[in-house]
Amino acid sequence: MSQRFSSDVLIIGGGAAGLATALQLADHARVTVLCKGDITSASSHWAQGGIAAVTAVEDSFTDHIADTLDAGAGLCDEKIVDMVVESAPKVIARLAAWGVNFDQHDNEYHLTREGGHSQRRVLHVADATGRALTETLTNRVLDHPNIELFNDRLAIDLINLSKLGRYPSRCAGAYVLNRTSRHVEVFQAHFVVLATGGASKVYLYTSNPDSSTGDGIAMAWRSGCRVANMEFNQFHPTCLYHPHAGSFLISEAVRGEGGILRLPNGERFMHNFDDRAELAPRDIVARAIDHEMKRLGVDCVYLDISHRSEAFINNHFPNIAEYCAKLGINIAKQPIPVVPAAHYTCGGVLVDHHGRTDLPNLYAAGEVSYSGLHGANRLASNSLLECLVFANNVAEKIRSQLDRPFDLPKLPHWDESQVTDSDESVVIAHNWDELRRFMWDYVGIVRTNKRLERALHRIDLLKQEINEYYANYRISNDLIELRNLVHVAELIVRSAAKRRESRGLHYNQDYPDTKETVADTIMFPGSIDHLDMLKPTA
Ligand code: FAD
Ligand code: SIN
Repeated sequence: MSQRFSSDVLIIGGGAAGLATALQLADHARVTVLCKGDITSASSHWAQGGIAAVTAVEDSFTDHIADTLDAGAGLCDEKIVDMVVESAPKVIARLAAWGVNFDQHDNEYHLTREGGHSQRRVLHVADATGRALTETLTNRVLDHPNIELFNDRLAIDLINLSKLGRYPSRCAGAYVLNRTSRHVEVFQAHFVVLATGGASKVYLYTSNPDSSTGDGIAMAWRSGCRVANMEFNQFHPTCLYHPHAGSFLISEAVRGEGGILRLPNGERFMHNFDDRAELAPRDIVARAIDHEMKRLGVDCVYLDISHRSEAFINNHFPNIAEYCAKLGINIAKQPIPVVPAAHYTCGGVLVDHHGRTDLPNLYAAGEVSYSGLHGANRLASNSLLECLVFANNVAEKIRSQLDRPFDLPKLPHWDESQVTDSDESVVIAHNWDELRRFMWDYVGIVRTNKRLERALHRIDLLKQEINEYYANYRISNDLIELRNLVHVAELIVRSAAKRRESRGLHYNQDYPDTKETVADTIMFPGSIDHLDMLKPTA
């Protein structure tokens, strides 16, 4: 019989959103945090550039708001933008009090610049801001007696009481695969917070860690929550292009500090696409690179920071310089080969100001959610900020309900009696690869109606195969992730097909113009036929 755990709040995800939510609840509630891998499995740990916040006298909330709205191409929720931007200085003060040592210069925060920002406003810890942030938060989480952190746990599905025939409908926990023992455990809680990050692994090339398989979006969708604006996938313009490099980002801050994009013959090209050249918002820079690579038939373009001194480079970008040096690239002397890669999921589980989803007692914070902050394109370094602001809002809302009495029925165990071990793991590996490849080719930076149709056709076939596999064989990490990726891919493609215009990150050659009317793409549960895949015993 598998194990059962119980707490007041279950947080699925140990990145910036999950850890910060846990810390803000732990003095009031018993909190459980689940991570698929360890701390390094979160995008938060990989973040480079920093956190956007108005801290300089020459900057203003008005400017930060205007830059966020401009990047968001008409789809941001202005109230949410105001709230997040105005909360940013408090978030920074809290992080500093928790022990995050942002870089300073002359007793002021050192601020770097990134694309789409009209001011220098990005606080950072050299070029490894995420590592400093997650290490600080994790140490505090580990020290707190009310928080239990479980690594190597993969949440499979949320438990919605109404799906077990109990009313009223509410989220009461999750079924979770222990990746070490390979047993499915039951985690019960009065409140559940999804903080599972994004879905960029749905694409063949990505800057993200392996954990970004859209699990939270798929789980929430399967349990009846609306999902919004999934067509807006952000491609970061500059990921390292090298046969021996894994996913490795070359921070936008490199362009912020003067880095120049060049074609293989050394020519600059960004000024042909936008007056802001290298510092145009990401969608513009990524599309320009994609255009030039296709026009010239080349594998990459180059990012050149070699005109800055070696001391400057080593001071500002020590990790990037070291990683490139290991591959034989001296960035103080040579340009860096770069390509765009999937970086950020702008859409997600629809939440309100408090991070509440459509399912009572289920909250979502961070990249898994769609709060209205980013609209059709996220402004650089606004993501960690969103994680931390919504962690605060979610924690505040849950704290206000903790004294209510809760009856927590004993939830059924996972039923594995009808399934066998598969002897065909190759099916999973093949489908995984096929999905990510056609998403890259057909649903990438530039889309057409025909490519979207092709992708949908393939998704239908994959879904059938995966559903059959899921029903008959013992689950594994790869099967669960693949099932989630297929569900997320379907949401992306259907959302992209619904948007008959080009806006922000979504560019369709068949509809190159932007419509005057502005609307979110909201997918309603039941609007796509999806199987109910919970496997509890009756
Ligand atoms: P994550 O940090 O991705 O954490 C998700 C957590 O959920 C992980 O612990 C994972 O293990 C866990 N998880 C996922 N699925 C499951 C499951 N089924 N069961 C259990 N656990 C699960 N943004 C900025 O604002 N500034 C930057 O400088 C910046 N740089 C970036 C650089 C890189 C290379 C990348 C990839 C992203 C960067 N971003 C940056 C974006 C930003 O880092 C992310 O959007 C943000 O960290 C997301 O935080 P999160 O807490 O929502 O999710
Ligand atoms: C970067 O450092 O370029 C990433 C910043 C971000 O994704 O916000």
